Amino acid sequence: MKNNPIGIFDSGVGGTSIWKEINTMLPDESTIYLADSKNAPYGAKKPKEILRLSIKNTELLLKMGCKLIVVACNTATTNAIHHLRENYDVPFIGIEPAIKPAALKSNSKKVGVLATKGTLSSALFHKTSNDHASGITIIEMEGAGLVPLIEAGKIDSKETKELLDKILQPMLKEEIDYLVLGCTHYPYLMEALRELLPKHIQVIDSGEAVARQTKAILEKNGILRIKGEEATYQFYSNGNASVLRSLLGITGKNVSIDSLDF
Ligand code: SIN
Repeated sequence: MKNNPIGIFDSGVGGTSIWKEINTMLPDESTIYLADSKNAPYGAKKPKEILRLSIKNTELLLKMGCKLIVVACNTATTNAIHHLRENYDVPFIGIEPAIKPAALKSNSKKVGVLATKGTLSSALFHKTSNDHASGITIIEMEGAGLVPLIEAGKIDSKETKELLDKILQPMLKEEIDYLVLGCTHYPYLMEALRELLPKHIQVIDSGEAVARQTKAILEKNGILRIKGEEATYQFYSNGNASVLRSLLGITGKNVSIDSLDF
């Protein structure tokens, strides 16, 4: 079990921002990543459909022998993680927007959260906001349209920057000093965000915290990999694998990035 891979899934390529953090912290762990790009974006789907897709991805990763699963998608976490934890026998790590650290550090007491409709309307998101941001005004913005542009590899395009600018405007009028990225695709927009946002606004995401949590849960369950053979990193996309390849930017005999119909 210890040398089985960590499974990671997302509605597409965005969760690779989480994979990079996990791989930096745990380079000896083998991983299998599923990019469900065919069904992206999850954010505009009904909760029942998000749950169905999350179950499909989980069952494939379990069939591939994964010892722990990272739900590297905010929308899938908020809509499915309780069900997954109750119904499957491996540890699950979910992604929640980093509202707590932003709320603790904010001077203006106004924090922006950029996420999908599926995340912002979920009960888990409201619980996180209520539990960790009392006395803070949370300004929620739906990043509608951003995930499909990232999935299409248009990260640096004028179209993406213009849409992002339009989405950010209402938030900027509220004088936020922290912007929380509540979707694992959005860290890929960091360059555009830095250009569009005033310098004093800090942007935070959950990637490093998720990697720390993954390490802690592997340790707690006694399933950290025993060093030996080189770790393998497998990636599967049911959409355009070339976007996955270009975002990952890694090669090597222990790396495979393939198309798979799932
Ligand atoms: C989406 O598929 O709409 C975005 C995934 C996420 O919420 O991280």
